[in-house]
Amino acid sequence: MKIIAGNWKMNGSRTGLNAMLCDLENVDTKNTVILCVPYTMLRAGNARVAIGAQDVSQHTHGAYTGSVSAQMVADAGAKYVIVGHSECRQYNGDTNSTVRQKAAQVLANGMIPIICVGETMDEKQAGKTMAVIESGVRESIPSDVGTPIIIAYEPRWAIGAGLTPTADEIAGAHTLIANTLSEMGLAGTPVLYGASVKGSNAAEIMSIPNVDGVLVGGASLKSDDFIPIITSVK
Ligand code: PGA
Repeated sequence: MKIIAGNWKMNGSRTGLNAMLCDLENVDTKNTVILCVPYTMLRAGNARVAIGAQDVSQHTHGAYTGSVSAQMVADAGAKYVIVGHSECRQYNGDTNSTVRQKAAQVLANGMIPIICVGETMDEKQAGKTMAVIESGVRESIPSDVGTPIIIAYEPRWAIGAGLTPTADEIAGAHTLIANTLSEMGLAGTPVLYGASVKGSNAAEIMSIPNVDGVLVGGASLKSDDFIPIITSVK
């Protein structure tokens, strides 16, 4: 069983989400399916699909105009929250430290954080891929995590670019993450791969050791693209 998570980013509509949930309702799969949508579209999921948010404030409540708390996201029906997505690190200044605080808020409100880590093109070219991934994992996870979390490895240079690392590169990153989680007492934590996943490469990517599922951006927006990814693995 794998975890297939969609990330709609700043796309879609409530009508579109309802249509997607209808389309997914009859998909025959044992995989866990999650759709992470903009705040305004948050709602409860159904038996087939869980709903998630794409970010959350690191603060609990108060004078943070424009921010949305983990409690609000949970109240709206979300079960998962992406934290530390590459675009939030790039455009909103998220660091491992703020990501850790956000993940703690998500956990404190009974949801599962999907904590993203990954290297930029500059870091890759400087030979820092493994160091960035390892520090991302060690520094972005709150201490004394007692409930499930999910990690997503997303090579930042490959997101939305139609590029994917080689199978060996993905295997290397996921083995490092699995070993690091094990050293942290978090063995068995699912690790997703994300960046340019589509129907034609999903099965191959999910056959790589230590890849427990995928985080899908562009190809999660239309059911014709998303369903083949969900059904690409048993
Ligand atoms: P992409 O995005 O699948 O469009 O590359 C992945 C992500 O940003 O989670």
